[in-house]
Amino acid sequence: MNITELARILRINPQELRDLLPQLGFAIGQKAIKVDNNTAKKIIKDWHFLRRQWEQKKMEAEIKKQDEFLPKEKKTISIPKVITVRAYAETAGIPVNRVLAELMKNGVFTSINEKIDFDTAVIIGENLNLEVGLASEVPMQSEEEEKKLELILAGEKDDDLKSRPPVIVVMGHVDHGKTKLLDSIRSTNVIAGEAGGITQHIGAYQITRKDRTITFIDTPGHEAFTAMRSRGAKVADIAILVVAADDGVMPQTVEAFRIIEAAKIPYIVAMNKIDKPTADINKTKQELSAKLNITPEDWGGKIICAPVSAKDGTGIEELLDMVLLVSDMESSGLKANPAAAAAGTVVESNVDKGAGPVATILIQNGTLRVGDQLCFNDIIYGKVKTLKNYKGEDIVEAGPSVPAKILGLKISPAVGDILNVGEGEKVKIKKIKSVSQAADTIPAAAEDNPEDKTPKINVVIKTDFLGTAEAVEESLLKLNNDKVRVRVISKGLGYITEGDIKRAEDAGAKVLGFNVRMSPAIETLARERQVVVKIFSVIYDLIQFVKEEMQLLVKPEINRVDLGRLKVLAIFRTENDSQIVGGKVLDGVIKNDSLIDVKRGDDFIVSGKLTQLQAGKQNVGQVEQDQEAGLKYEGKPVIEVGDILEVYQEERIIGKI
Ligand code: GTP
Ligand code: MG
Repeated sequence: MNITELARILRINPQELRDLLPQLGFAIGQKAIKVDNNTAKKIIKDWHFLRRQWEQKKMEAEIKKQDEFLPKEKKTISIPKVITVRAYAETAGIPVNRVLAELMKNGVFTSINEKIDFDTAVIIGENLNLEVGLASEVPMQSEEEEKKLELILAGEKDDDLKSRPPVIVVMGHVDHGKTKLLDSIRSTNVIAGEAGGITQHIGAYQITRKDRTITFIDTPGHEAFTAMRSRGAKVADIAILVVAADDGVMPQTVEAFRIIEAAKIPYIVAMNKIDKPTADINKTKQELSAKLNITPEDWGGKIICAPVSAKDGTGIEELLDMVLLVSDMESSGLKANPAAAAAGTVVESNVDKGAGPVATILIQNGTLRVGDQLCFNDIIYGKVKTLKNYKGEDIVEAGPSVPAKILGLKISPAVGDILNVGEGEKVKIKKIKSVSQAADTIPAAAEDNPEDKTPKINVVIKTDFLGTAEAVEESLLKLNNDKVRVRVISKGLGYITEGDIKRAEDAGAKVLGFNVRMSPAIETLARERQVVVKIFSVIYDLIQFVKEEMQLLVKPEINRVDLGRLKVLAIFRTENDSQIVGGKVLDGVIKNDSLIDVKRGDDFIVSGKLTQLQAGKQNVGQVEQDQEAGLKYEGKPVIEVGDILEVYQEERIIGKI
C-alpha cells in the first residue's frame, strides 16, 4: 500500500506518518513510498492505540525536563473533594505548569483557575510524587468537617430541637456475625442477598421497637476495610461490639474497639454465637478483660456484655432493651431540628451501572426532600431526583437519623463527606467527567526489576470504588513471598476498557475486575488478544484466585523415593515397548505403579515404568524382600537376565505459598 494512501486512511500528513512510524516501532524509511500490506493492516488496526502511545511518549519527554521541580521524596498532601489547579499546585509546592502538563498527559486540557475532582488529583499525584489524601479523611480536617455538623446543630434554637432516633453502629471481627445479628434484629434475611456473605459496604437499616425507631449501621469486618469501620463509628451514637464467643477477641475486634474509643461513644459488647457448643462465655469475658481492658458488669465493671445468638435469637430482645437503655441515657444529645435544611454524612457512595452516582446519606439534621440542591464542601453536586429508604422504596422526605439513598447526583461524593442542602458553587462537571474517563486507570508505581528472577503474576485491577481498588491491591501485595510475587500493573475505577486490555497484553497480565462490568466488544478484544479477564463480586474469591495462580507458578520439587531392587531371572515376553520379566526382590519392597532404572553391573542402561506386578500369577500391589515377582515393564525392551531393576517412586512436593 502507498504511504499516501495509508496516510489518507489514518487522516495524517504522509511526511508526518513517515516520521512517526519508526518511533512506533515500524522500520519504514524516510523516503519510503510503499508499506507492505500486512504492516499496513497492523498499523491501521492499532492506529488509535499507537498514536496515543506516541503522544504520551512525547508528552512524557517534555514533562521529564520539568521533573526537577518535583518533591524528591513522596510528599503527602490533603485536599478537598474538588480543588482548583492553582490551589493544588500551591498545596503541593509544584509549579502550576507542571501540574497542567500532567493533566494534559491524562487528556485533560484545563486552566489554572478551573477545578479538578479528587480522583483526578490522586491520579496525577502519582506521577508528581504526591500522596494525595482526602481532606475530610485526614483527622485535622475531619474535625473541621465534624465541627461543621456541630456548628449546624449549635446554631439551632433549643425550642426547635426534637428527639431523633439513636444511630447504632455494629462492629467486630470478620464473620463474628454482625450482619446476622442485624438480620435477626430485623428478622429478615439480608445475608442471603450479600455475595458470599462477606460485608463489603456499609449497610444502614431502621427498625421500630416499642414504638421507638432505631437506626443501625452495619460495617464490614474484613481487615481491608478499616476506613469503612471508622466511618461507621463517626456517624453513630452508640456502638455494638460483636465478639463471637467461640472465637474470642481477634485482630479486628481490637481495631474496632480502638475506633469506638477514639469516637468516644458508649458501647455494648454482644457475645455472639452462644448456641455453638464451642462457645465459651467466660473465656470470652476473660479475653475482653485481658486484651481490651473491658470489665463486664457482672464482674463489677461498667460494660454490658450481652450473650446472644444471632442464629436462634437468644438474648436479642435483651440486647435491644439495653440499646434503648443506653440511648435513654444519651437522650439529651440525640436531638435535631427536623424543620431545617438537611445536613448529613455520606456513608456509602458508588456509581451505579444504570443510575449513575448514588449515595447513601445518614441525615443528621433537618429534612431532605426530593428537589433539594445537594452541596458538599459548598459545591453543588446535583439535585435530589429520587429518594429511597433502606428497603429501596421511594420516599418523599428523610428526617434526622434516617439513612436515605439519593439519586440525581452529577458527581460522586466521597464517603465521609458532609452534605449540606443549600446554595453552593457550580463545578465544571463536564470537564470532571472527561477527566475521570480519560484517566480511568492509575499506573501503579511497581517497577519491574529485571534482575529479579522470582516468578510473577501481573495483574490489572478495576473496581467500582477507588477505596476497594486500594484494599484489593493491599491484600494482594500481602501474598508476596520469596517464591512468587504478584505485581499490580495498574489499578483503577469503572468498566474494563480497551486500554486495560492493551496494558494487560503488553505486560502479560490478567485483568481482575471487582464489581465491574465489561462490554461485549471488550470481551471480544480480550479473547482476540488472549488476555484473561476475571470478574469477582467477593474480595476473598479474587484473592483466592490470585493465590491459586501464584501457586501454579511455584515449581514443584521432585523427590526420588527408592523402594527396592529386583534381580531379573527370566524374560517371559518382549514387545516393541514393553517386557514381561520375572525375578527376585533383593532388598526393600517393589510396588506397582513405580518407576524403574535398569542397571547392568554398575552401568545404568535405561529408565522405564512398572505397570503391573504379580506374585504367584496374582496381581498384587507390592512384593517384599526375598520373594519372587513377575512384572510388566514399559520402556525400551532391553532388559536381560541378570540385570538389576531399581524400583522407585517420585514425590512432587509443591511448595505452599
Ligand atoms: P463480615 O461482614 O464479613 O465481617 O461478617 P459478619 O460479622 O457480618 O458475619 P455474618 O453475619 O456474615 O456471619 C458469619 C457466619 O457466622 C455466617 O455463616 C452466619 O450464619 C454465622 N453466624 C452468625 N451468627 C451466628 C450465631 O449466633 N450462631 C451460629 N451458630 N452461627 C452464626
Ligand atoms: Mg457482615
